[in-house]
Amino acid sequence: KKIAVLLGGLSAEREVSLNSGKAVLASLQRQGYDAVGIDVGRDLAQRLVEEKVERAFIALHGRFGEDGSVQGLLELMGVPYTGSGVLASALAIDKVAAKVMFAAAGLKLAPYQVLRRGEELKLENPLPVVVKPSKEGSSVGVSIVKEPGQMEKALEEAFRYDAEILIEAFISGKEVQVGILDGRAMGAIEIVPKNEFYDYEAKYTDGGAEHILPARLPESVYQAVLKEGEKAHAALGCDCYSRVDFLVNEKGECYLLEVNTLPGMTDLSLLPEIARGSGIDFDQLVTRILLAASL
Ligand code: DAL
Ligand code: MG
Repeated sequence: KKIAVLLGGLSAEREVSLNSGKAVLASLQRQGYDAVGIDVGRDLAQRLVEEKVERAFIALHGRFGEDGSVQGLLELMGVPYTGSGVLASALAIDKVAAKVMFAAAGLKLAPYQVLRRGEELKLENPLPVVVKPSKEGSSVGVSIVKEPGQMEKALEEAFRYDAEILIEAFISGKEVQVGILDGRAMGAIEIVPKNEFYDYEAKYTDGGAEHILPARLPESVYQAVLKEGEKAHAALGCDCYSRVDFLVNEKGECYLLEVNTLPGMTDLSLLPEIARGSGIDFDQLVTRILLAASL
């Protein structure tokens, strides 16, 4: 069967996706699959027909890829694809919509408010707060606001990427990410960024963050965060795999940040590292995701 690895695309995370996609493509080719890479543009449907693609491995991040749009096109064309379906993808990319689902499932969230472009800000939480666009990944457009004077620039930055933004209470704690495969938690990794938080630079610069696997948490908290990760994955109706991001405070309370339905697959990415820690190497991870592809 001819497999297309969909990569690149039209989002702010294009560069990250090129790296994820290249790693996935190399893995598939190494394993003997008939695989090609397709850099996703407006002509995707035509490219899929020309290449006679029978299965798609989606290695896109952000809009037009992680948000259900490409999934919808593949549904229409009858091409089985990896990862979550249209609805789960659309919910997960939209942090405002996802929070409604998470709250309904009883997951713990930092207090937050939503601001739409043109609305006046009436701050509901004391500083510091985190300002972020609703529909972005890789911390694009995210700022921490500690003093009132920093707010204007933070809002401007977040509104560059989305007409709807979130202002969340800052949770002081450990950044912990849970890797999910086949709906089950494989492990939890702790991130100690060199920068103030795990921003774009810390994510994609070698040495930008320390990764500690398993996360340094008391056993009961470790088990709890794995459970919460599985619950968050299920709350959005995700398929097969995801990476669920948390902040865990000193009391061991797990605050859910988000579910990434198409987590990074680059050399510095966390899902492959968590998988490796549970005895699943990169090729096995890629194969298991591929074989779970469906319509
Ligand atoms: N959005 C990036 C790719 C991640 O979650 O890994
Ligand atoms: Mg994300």
